[in-house]
Amino acid sequence: MTLIRNNLAITAALILAGISLNAAEIRPGPQLGTPAGAHDISSRDWGIMPDGAGLPAGSGTAKQGRKIYEKLCISCHGDGGLGGSGDQLAGAQMQLTDEWPEKTIGNYWPYATTLFDFIRRAKPMLQPGSLTASEVYAVTAYLLYLNEIIPENQQINAATLPTVKMPNQDGFILILE
Ligand code: HEC
Repeated sequence: MTLIRNNLAITAALILAGISLNAAEIRPGPQLGTPAGAHDISSRDWGIMPDGAGLPAGSGTAKQGRKIYEKLCISCHGDGGLGGSGDQLAGAQMQLTDEWPEKTIGNYWPYATTLFDFIRRAKPMLQPGSLTASEVYAVTAYLLYLNEIIPENQQINAATLPTVKMPNQDGFILILE
């Protein structure tokens, strides 16, 4: 009987503890970080659609992009984009359907616009988001040039980039269920 009474007392104490904890307004989750402010959101909210929607002002050529590539990208992606500790970006000898495929921008990426988005968002790997829009246009142009998709002096900007047709654009199949 004493045992039952004790158990009841413990249960009641736990219920009361629960009520007082609820009253102290518990937020869910591990309580880490701080809420994102307007600047945090606007500095990341820059997605670019395949049709080029969202591309910023600015412009660059492959010729200008070569200098940026040689300063900020070559250490990992190699001379001419042939690869190193980072991915091979150009110059595939083997295609995706070969036994030992080499996946590059030229034989894989479906859109030049989303290549711009990726570089602006993620590159250089150790300082992502540090390039200006014109620098991203220029280095994107250089990578397209290395893949023999555009000429070296073509101005790449919000108007011209969406018109670049990537060789593998039709290699992606849309499956709608
Ligand atoms: C410190 C090494 C490093 C540097 C510097 C670097 N990258 Fe990368 N990059 C990588 C690695 C590793 C990957 C593969 C993993 C990933 O996607 O993040 C990659 C992936 C990429 C891809 C995607 C390849 C694909 O087809 O999936 C592109 C494009 C690219 N880098 C461009 C650049 C450009 C442009 C610069 C210079 C502005 C640069 N990278 C600088 C290491 C680096």
